[in-house]
Amino acid sequence: MARPWSRLALGCLMSGLAVTVVAAHAGASRRPAQESHGWTIPPDAARLESPVPGDASVVARGRRLYESRCRRCHGPSGRGDGPEAERDEPPGDLTDPARAARNPDGVVFYKVWNGRRSPRMPAFKTELSRDEVWAVVHYVKTLRRGAGDRSR
Ligand code: HEC
Repeated sequence: MARPWSRLALGCLMSGLAVTVVAAHAGASRRPAQESHGWTIPPDAARLESPVPGDASVVARGRRLYESRCRRCHGPSGRGDGPEAERDEPPGDLTDPARAARNPDGVVFYKVWNGRRSPRMPAFKTELSRDEVWAVVHYVKTLRRGAGDRSR
């Protein structure tokens, strides 16, 4: 009597394990690239708040920086259609609301600060100050669909 039960228990355990492994793989392929996939994002970045308030003058400063540094790849309205966008590895669509949901301010800050290895985006920490990157973060948020008049 003991053997069939233990065999059944083992069977359950194994199929449970298989489901877990398959689920983990499915999750991994859907999950956006954060710490891995070429980005360097500190674990607490999602909780980070901008020390710079996103008022009109900061957004205007962010817009000027975006136009001189980001527009060539990300395009005039952030859709990823700038003249230097790579066709096979396009810059992300910054207006996409689904991307916005997984890009809290601190994560956007570090994506811009550290850049990405592949698909390649330059790091701006050697070119811009922290306050300048925060200003760009505030401006990028205005490009998101549903973020205000500027997004349409
Ligand atoms: C040389 C081209 C290039 C330049 C210049 C560039 N980027 Fe990018 N950017 C990319 C590429 C390529 C990606 C990766 C695309 C992806 O994640 O799907 C990316 C990704 C991003 C992301 C992450 C999008 C996401 O949903 O994960 C943000 C935010 C971003 N860029 C903002 C900026 C800002 C702000 C600037 C200017 C300070 C800038 N980029 C300059 C090419 C560029």
